[in-house]
Amino acid sequence: MDRPATMTGLLPRRITPDLLWTGGCMAASVTGMLAHYSCFVLRGSTGAVLIDTGHPSHRAQVTRDVADFLAGQPLTHIFPTHAELPHAGLLDHWLDLFPAAVAIGDMRDWHLYLPHLAPRFRQVADGDTLDLGNRRLRFIAPIWRDLPDTLWAFDDASRTLFLSDACACFHPHSPGQSDRFTSEVAPPDIAIMQDFNDKALHWPRYTDCTDSAAAMDALLEALNPAYLAGAHGAVVDDWRRMMPHFKAGMGAC
Ligand SMILES: [Fe+2]
Ligand SMILES: [Fe+2]
Repeated sequence: MDRPATMTGLLPRRITPDLLWTGGCMAASVTGMLAHYSCFVLRGSTGAVLIDTGHPSHRAQVTRDVADFLAGQPLTHIFPTHAELPHAGLLDHWLDLFPAAVAIGDMRDWHLYLPHLAPRFRQVADGDTLDLGNRRLRFIAPIWRDLPDTLWAFDDASRTLFLSDACACFHPHSPGQSDRFTSEVAPPDIAIMQDFNDKALHWPRYTDCTDSAAAMDALLEALNPAYLAGAHGAVVDDWRRMMPHFKAGMGAC
């Protein structure tokens, strides 16, 4: 397979010229497997948004990658998809680094965590949009999620659905495989996906996921995304082929 110019085997990778995928990988709950801890930057003509903050363990790399990608353009928004360490642990770092930026998302509890930054929190909900000039990010109620403050979002320019903990999949990471899309790697192991979903989301082990799988189908048919960008797996560039695997990983098949 020809490797695109931006595909190096290591993050970061540009999904499109104005959409960066960065972050890092760490040992997963299954021996021999690694999990992505990804974040993304969308660059628009009037602003730029960081989607998830990166894990604090990857602070140096993601700070460097975001700076290189933006080339002097400031971040205007930071969107933590929910209030967990891998998704939001660097929020104060980014707000310190970009003093004019605001945090946007379901910020319901953040005044308790970072009270001195509360004036810089913008509360949004399902259907609200963030205008970045030549693109809009629409916030979407999540379907497969863990915490109640989770939000997903859809970028209309790249047609990317950012879905946080959903559609996660671990795979063996030999050197040079961290930046691959799902079409570029073998299908994920279903048992390992089920193990992750049981541990990270909790409710799939107790709940019939059939209804939520149908809701996922409806959302994806309506959006017809080019990419699914989750925090804990390869970026999905072929969701129609992958959804049966993800449904099986939720125990809904
Ligand atoms: Fe989570
Ligand atoms: Fe997560």
